[in-house]
Amino acid sequence: MKATITLLPGDGIGPEVGAEAEKLLLAVARQFGHEFTLQTGLIGGAAIDATGNPLPEETITLCKQSDAVFLGAVGGPKWSDPNAPVRPEQGLLKLRAELGVFANLRPVAPHPATAELAPLKPHLLHGIDMLFVRELTGGSYFGAKRREADAAVDECRYTVAEIERVTRRAAQLARGRRRKLTHVDKANVLETSRLWRSTVTRIMDSEYPDVAYEHVLVDAMAMHLLTRPSHFDVVLTENLFGDILTDEAAVLAGSMGLLPSASVGEGKVGLYEPIHGSAPDIAGKGIANPYASLLSVALLLRHSLGLEAEAAALEQAVSSAISDGVLTADLRKDHPASTAEAGNAVLQRLSALA
Ligand code: NAI
Ligand code: MG
Repeated sequence: MKATITLLPGDGIGPEVGAEAEKLLLAVARQFGHEFTLQTGLIGGAAIDATGNPLPEETITLCKQSDAVFLGAVGGPKWSDPNAPVRPEQGLLKLRAELGVFANLRPVAPHPATAELAPLKPHLLHGIDMLFVRELTGGSYFGAKRREADAAVDECRYTVAEIERVTRRAAQLARGRRRKLTHVDKANVLETSRLWRSTVTRIMDSEYPDVAYEHVLVDAMAMHLLTRPSHFDVVLTENLFGDILTDEAAVLAGSMGLLPSASVGEGKVGLYEPIHGSAPDIAGKGIANPYASLLSVALLLRHSLGLEAEAAALEQAVSSAISDGVLTADLRKDHPASTAEAGNAVLQRLSALA
């Protein structure tokens, strides 16, 4: 097939893990006989440095003209001055809104070998297979923000339509899995959560009677994630709660460097990115874990290009590299692999599978 894919490396380790994603896309095209046109754009701090704008118009155009977008990460101390007129993260938020990607899918299914390395008791990590569905284009990330003399306000607003569409997406995904959905909110305190709860209940009862669902308060969920993670299948939640809970879920997988994400909406362009940030503490050293990015490429192949066999082969290649102990410094202290070595190990295993 023919596809156009935009690469947005961004800042910090973004370009380092992005380079491995690019190599992999080229290898998939070669091995499986596809024609991928790759184009690169500016976003985040790199875009601010070059143009003053964290999301230049040119980047938006590139993304909208493509079938899918891969993003590394944005941000870093260089652009974190609280008085700066623009911030790198504004570029990413604007891109998500421009592409209308309201559902952020974050699968968490720890590999047995990395579960061993997680700081939790191994017996808690058996049988974990979750899919977080985080609402991505609403809530406090997009609400009105303002400063008052000695106060600050972040508005959290959700419409019924915004809740309905992401609930339907989560319920459809649950149908392809264990038909179980956990909706996470703070309905004992927040008005937006009460709207979420009644809307989720109505949609699930009327349209998805075959999918079991429950409502769980977010503070309790923070605990359940560590005490009985294997209980959960699809976890649906609003923007801020989803951001926080998925970093927590990364602990179950063993490292931030292992979790991919897919952001999708009604439009044709999907956005794929590792869940981690720009990791300024390790940037420039060639030691970042590229697996979250490579697994994000697998999600891109599956969700945007419909290439299920290629996606599955790639996931198997990453899994086999992990089983063989090809791990970066976040997961092994003795003889860790570099970013490029880990990426090459996946390429080798993929070529053996094609
Ligand atoms: P972070 O996710 O960048 O790093 C958290 C910790 O995980 C660090 O110790 C880092 O070294 C480690 N880590 C992350 N990814 C890794 C990888 N692939 N391999 C090995 N270790 C990895 O979060 P942090 O430090 O809170 O934020 C750093 C910057 O990234 C900030 O400017 C923040 O705004 C930005 N950020 C950007 C995101 C994005 O572009 N989607 C998401 C989260 C944060
Ligand atoms: Mg986050």
